[in-house]
Amino acid sequence: MHKVNPIGVFDSGVGGLSVLHEIRRALPAEDLLYVADSGHAPYGDKSQQFIEERSIAISQFLVSRNAKAIVVACNTATGAAIATLRSRFSVPIIAMEPAVKPATANTQSGVIGVLATSRTLVSDNFVQLFARYGGNVQIVGQACPGLVEQVEAGDLSGHKTRLLLERYIAPLLEQKVDIIVLGCTHYPFLAPLIKELAGPKVTVIDSAAAVARELCRRLEVDQLLASQARMGTECFWTSGELGNAQPLVSQLWQAEIRLSRFES
Ligand code: DGL
Repeated sequence: MHKVNPIGVFDSGVGGLSVLHEIRRALPAEDLLYVADSGHAPYGDKSQQFIEERSIAISQFLVSRNAKAIVVACNTATGAAIATLRSRFSVPIIAMEPAVKPATANTQSGVIGVLATSRTLVSDNFVQLFARYGGNVQIVGQACPGLVEQVEAGDLSGHKTRLLLERYIAPLLEQKVDIIVLGCTHYPFLAPLIKELAGPKVTVIDSAAAVARELCRRLEVDQLLASQARMGTECFWTSGELGNAQPLVSQLWQAEIRLSRFES
């Protein structure tokens, strides 16, 4: 494995771009490969076996492109497939973990909320997080069906997205949460609306920056960090409709990009 090799990143769709932004900020010299499995999103209502198969197929593709590490920029795929991926691939696999630990450390009200997909909330990883940090703090999990689809459709602030978010945030406010954890990588793109609806007394956090730091640490330990004297590049693939995905990925990445079709 060489330092000049790229880092592979994938998600069920465009949500993982919120993690890719933090990776780019933390590691400007690295080449980045991103696969959006938008043709199969959302993962949240699929079986564990389906998510494992998709995660393996995408990881195989990234490894065939010489990825020196893989970031599973999807909480749902982390919950369903991380153990399988780590047993199948020898490159470092970096996983998502909802920011429950910092939220429980910083809450003043003693109640935190977690917005995530239904599948993430019932995953072993999440149940363990709950048990580890939920001792003195009440953790209110809220499943958010439909939100991933809104982001995939590029509707970040329209009427339907607002209605869904109002419905999901109201129970958290009733329970007096003062921190909302975004436990799905699509949701940071809805953060302005979530903050508006939750009000100024509630802090909204996600774990993208922490995942980028963990990736950095791991590459450093394995002596795989790219030389700092260069500017990294990005390549994007989607299993979704190219015509729809091209403008959406450009919008969320905040730069005109060229998207290729991912077939598998
Ligand atoms: N971005 C994915 C996550 O973090 C969305 C999952 C889905 O497609 O349902 O969980």
